[in-house]
Amino acid sequence: MLTLPDEKFKMIFDMINKINDLLAEINQLKATGKDELEALRIKYLSKKGEIALLMNDFRSVAAEQKRETGQKLNELKEKAQAKINELKELLENQRSSGDFVDLTRTAYPYSVGTRHPLSIVGKEICDIFGRLGFNIAEGPEIEDDWHVFSSLNFAPDHPARDMQDTFFVAYGTDILLRTHTSSVQTRVMEKTQPPIRIICPGRVYRNEAISYRAHCFFHQVEGLYIGKNVSFADLKQALLFFAKEMFGAGTKIRLRPSFFPFTEPSAEMDISCNLCGGKGCPFCKHTGWVEILGCGMVDPNVLDNCGIDSQIYSGYAFGMGIERIANLKYQVKDLRLFSENDVRFLRQFESAT
Ligand code: PHE
Repeated sequence: MLTLPDEKFKMIFDMINKINDLLAEINQLKATGKDELEALRIKYLSKKGEIALLMNDFRSVAAEQKRETGQKLNELKEKAQAKINELKELLENQRSSGDFVDLTRTAYPYSVGTRHPLSIVGKEICDIFGRLGFNIAEGPEIEDDWHVFSSLNFAPDHPARDMQDTFFVAYGTDILLRTHTSSVQTRVMEKTQPPIRIICPGRVYRNEAISYRAHCFFHQVEGLYIGKNVSFADLKQALLFFAKEMFGAGTKIRLRPSFFPFTEPSAEMDISCNLCGGKGCPFCKHTGWVEILGCGMVDPNVLDNCGIDSQIYSGYAFGMGIERIANLKYQVKDLRLFSENDVRFLRQFESAT
C-alpha cells in the first residue's frame, strides 16, 4: 500500500500516543481476584489483545521508523507482561498470608469427636418407637427399692430379686442404683393417667464381674404402653415393626414364654439371626435366632400399685439392652470396648449418624 508522507507521520504519531497511553494504563493496573487478572491478561496480551493489534499496525510502519517504534512496542509488551506477573504474585501471597490469616483460629486443628456407638443405637431405637407415638421419659439412676422392685411386684423375699445383683448406695438403706429403667415407668404411672406411651432410655447397674460379655453397668431402652383394650397382639405388632426397622425388612421375630415379676404373661423375643439370615452360623450358635429383649403384659398388680385401675386399663411393656442391639448391628465382640473410650474404636463409627 502506498502511504503518503503526511499520513505516515500521523499513523506513527497515533501509534506512539497509543503506546504511551497503554503504558500509563498498565502501570495503574489492579486485580482483586484471579478472574479479574485473567481478564486483564486477555485485554492486553492475548492474540487479539491491545498489544497484538498494535503489532499488526506496526507492519505498515515505514522502514526508517521501524526501529524506534519497534523498541517502544517491545517495551510496552514487556511492561504489560511484568505487570501481570506482579499482580499474580501479589494475589498468591495474599492468599497464603496477609489479609487471609484468621487470627481467631486455634494453633492446632480441632479434633472433632464422633457419636458414641451406644448413643447412635440408643437414638435409633428411640426414633423407631417415636414413629409409633412413644415419648421419651427419663428418671434418676440413684433410686429406691419401691420404684425398682416393690412397685413392680417383686415380693420382699421373691427369688426374682436375685436375678439382678443390686448395688446399694448405703448399707442398711433402701437407696440403690437402678437395675433397670422400669423404675422410670413406675414414676410416670404414679403421676399420669393412661393413655401412656413411653420409652425409657438410660444407664443401669448390676453387680456383675466384668468380662467381655458382662459389665457392672449397661444401657437399656424400656417401653410401656397403657390404654384401654391393649393386647398381646398390639405388643407383638409393635415389636415386629421395631425389628424390621432396626435390622431390615426381612427380619422375623419369635416369642418364647418367660418370667418377669412385673409382666404376665411374659416373653423373651428372638429375631432371625441378622448375620446368617436365619440359616444358622457360629454367631447364633447354629439356631438361626438371637435373643434381643424381654416383654409381656403389665401385671395388674403393678397398675394398681401405681394408681391405675387395672379393671379399666391394660398395657404392655418391653425392655432391651442397647449394648446387645449394638453388638448385633456392629458385631462388637467385647462389651468392655464400649466404656474404654479408645478413639481407635470410636472412630470406626464416624460415618454412622
Ligand atoms: N426390666 C427387664 C430387665 O431389665 C426387661 C423387661 C421390661 C421385661 C419390660 C419385660 C417387660 O431385664
